[in-house]
Amino acid sequence: MIKEPIILGIESSCDDTSAAILQGQKILSNIIAGQDVHTKYGGVVPELASRAHQQNIIPVIDQAIKQAGVSKSDISAIAITRGPGLLGSLLVGTSFTKGFSLGRDIPMLEVDHLQAHILAHFVDTGKDMPKFPFLCLTVSGGHTQIVKVSDYFEMEIIGNTIDDAAGEAFDKTAKILGLPYPGGPHIDRLAKIGDENKFSFPFPKIQGLNFSFSGIKTSFLYFVRDGLKINDNFIEENRADLAASMQKLIVDILIGKLKRASKETGIKQIAIAGGVSANSGLRDAIVAGEKTFGWKTYIPEFQFTTDNAAMIAISGYFKYLKKEFLPIDFVPYARALHKAKK
Ligand code: KG4
Ligand code: ZN
Repeated sequence: MIKEPIILGIESSCDDTSAAILQGQKILSNIIAGQDVHTKYGGVVPELASRAHQQNIIPVIDQAIKQAGVSKSDISAIAITRGPGLLGSLLVGTSFTKGFSLGRDIPMLEVDHLQAHILAHFVDTGKDMPKFPFLCLTVSGGHTQIVKVSDYFEMEIIGNTIDDAAGEAFDKTAKILGLPYPGGPHIDRLAKIGDENKFSFPFPKIQGLNFSFSGIKTSFLYFVRDGLKINDNFIEENRADLAASMQKLIVDILIGKLKRASKETGIKQIAIAGGVSANSGLRDAIVAGEKTFGWKTYIPEFQFTTDNAAMIAISGYFKYLKKEFLPIDFVPYARALHKAKK
């Protein structure tokens, strides 16, 4: 029997340092180190992120190898996020990768961070995997896209945000409500105890399959400001209801466009990916689509929603099968490679 290759995946594009080991599609380890250093600044500080990656990267990789129960000499190839992301952060991961590849004489595999969020669905966890073609709603701190996925690396962006990402809408809502960064999980937690119908905000009217989130952020800011003019305790007294109402609006916007995309393409295999796919309101709404729209839905395990290296390793595995290796002089890229169709 042919032994499946063992792939070390590394992710360092933003503020999580992560390393994972996969054998074929089977996950052996997935270690994620977050960076608390940004909390007090209310957002990621690029220079601090790259310094923290430098401190974390060796211990995180060591732990991933140990937990997987393999030795360095077992590793067949190393997969790395080449972009998009913060250049300083990406440089930490890509420089380590070059050194490791040279030192161990193993090939390097290039991974696009956004494609990796989607391909996380192919890590073997015993659950059903999406069948091609499927639609994936990729929602993170930096991106909001509807992607038509026809094969592992055949992806077409059919909807995109024209301004903020859904994750930013969550984070900015949280900031206005005095909650720490990243705010998405705090909004999610509060929304569970709040009344989602207490407040309503104007629904953005954007053509086609594209999204806009900057308008709802501004109307929320003005709404809270007006509330504070009348009542100093407006936020304290209404925090959970405000969180729930905004979460509902963001989820409704996302589901509305996904519904339209499914109708236009005739595709009913629906997946979600990215940090915001951890949101319980969004997860529930997607699953509800099975009954209302006849969808077959794929919801990632929590460990594969926010940034993680298992998604990098699985993407690298598919590149390994195609023998697509990186030359030693490759450089990272900061901006997304693919743009939405006009
Ligand atoms: O994919 P990710 O880890 O990093 C990027 O590539 O951007 O996504 C981070 C984003 C943040 O905006 C964070 O607030 C959001 O995902 N997020 C959530 C939840 N967990 C993380 N948003 C809403 N609800 C959650 N439970
Ligand atoms: Zn991400």
